[in-house]
Amino acid sequence: MGEFSKGLEGVIAAETEMSFIDGQKGVLEYVGIPIGELATHSTFEETVFLLWNRRLPTSSELESFKGELRKRYALPSGLARRIPEIPTTAQPMHMLRTLISEMSLYDTHPNDNDPEQARRKAMNILGQAPTIVAQFDRCRRGLPVVEPDPSLGFSANFLYMLNGEKPTDAMTRAFDICMITHADHGLNNSTFTARVVISTLSDVYSALTAAVGSLRGPLHGGANEGVMKMLNEIPSVADAEAYVLGKLERKEKIMGFGHRVYKAKDPRAKELMALAKQLADDTGNTDLYEKSHAIERVMEREVAAKGIYPNVDFYSATTYHCIGLKLDLFTPMFALSRIGGWAGHVIEQLSDNRLFRPGAKYVGPHDQPYVPIAQR
Ligand code: ACO
Repeated sequence: MGEFSKGLEGVIAAETEMSFIDGQKGVLEYVGIPIGELATHSTFEETVFLLWNRRLPTSSELESFKGELRKRYALPSGLARRIPEIPTTAQPMHMLRTLISEMSLYDTHPNDNDPEQARRKAMNILGQAPTIVAQFDRCRRGLPVVEPDPSLGFSANFLYMLNGEKPTDAMTRAFDICMITHADHGLNNSTFTARVVISTLSDVYSALTAAVGSLRGPLHGGANEGVMKMLNEIPSVADAEAYVLGKLERKEKIMGFGHRVYKAKDPRAKELMALAKQLADDTGNTDLYEKSHAIERVMEREVAAKGIYPNVDFYSATTYHCIGLKLDLFTPMFALSRIGGWAGHVIEQLSDNRLFRPGAKYVGPHDQPYVPIAQR
């Protein structure tokens, strides 16, 4: 047995060709391409193709990939009928986790893991998850469902289904950049979860259902909601410093800061910071951006020496708010994008599988007597 590492910190548990992270230098690449290049030049669909195929597509490959995805926007009728029955008080991440699991009921070969079938399931989940989230949100708001529009790309179609009107090009591009920057990130907790599940040769739906459950936690993807709650708690830019100092004094964590891997500024936060600023200016939310920036300055002064910098969730909160998303949809947005990464990792794991089965260091007693119940 190897050495014990709490939280598996420092343990290399898989090989991947998908993303590379240098936490000291603040570098993230997908298949060798810096995240900033992809955020500037790529689209979410192209980025997912890259992650699943480990190379950029030609234009005809990209067109056919987009076509395949668009064919899958619509939900099977049974699943579509389920959505209005879900309590309007249900939390979107619980709803999404449950319905990704339910998608397997409409697959006649849910357990088939051969490469072609695994890709088909991945494409189904990637295409249908936005429809599930948008339709659930419309139903709980008492609004009529908007059917997907297969003439639109992934991001424009999602915003259209959510809001009932075609988004502007600027909003579509902003949302797409969020999707690109959240798509993959090494062996993060939810990706590890997906790989652990598929390593039993279970199935793609089970692996992604488990991954959604992992992502929801406030130490992982749930942090973006925490950031927004914090920004709402701070009355004005002038109060940001006292708020942060108070939290640090009480040894409370500032959501959207710190990372197990990055000890420099998360490169995704750099991309999203610029985007958040632009959107905040365009949508009259400058105060929100200024508050975020004020928090970042105090954190830089107080804790940067410990390697604590903004992570991906910090500026994505302002970005999602400016796009007009409700708070409890922030983490589901992360999930919609990360489905691309999870599915890629599941396919990668299946291509060279070995069951995950680490050991536990037993720290309990030995040689204990069995005490009959009447004598305990
Ligand atoms: N605010 C203030 N202090 C922090 C923060 C923070 N956000 N994050 C870490 N620290 C401090 C801890 O208090 C601890 O200090 P100490 O050594 O004086 O006790 C030290 O930094 C190490 O922190 P750990 O929590 O042990 O580090 P770990 O690697 O386990 O934490 C984590 C990583 C969980 C992300 C942590 O930084 C955190 O809780 N951040 C807030 C939640 C968050 O933003 N999560 C999103 C991460 S990105 C993602 O999953 C998409």
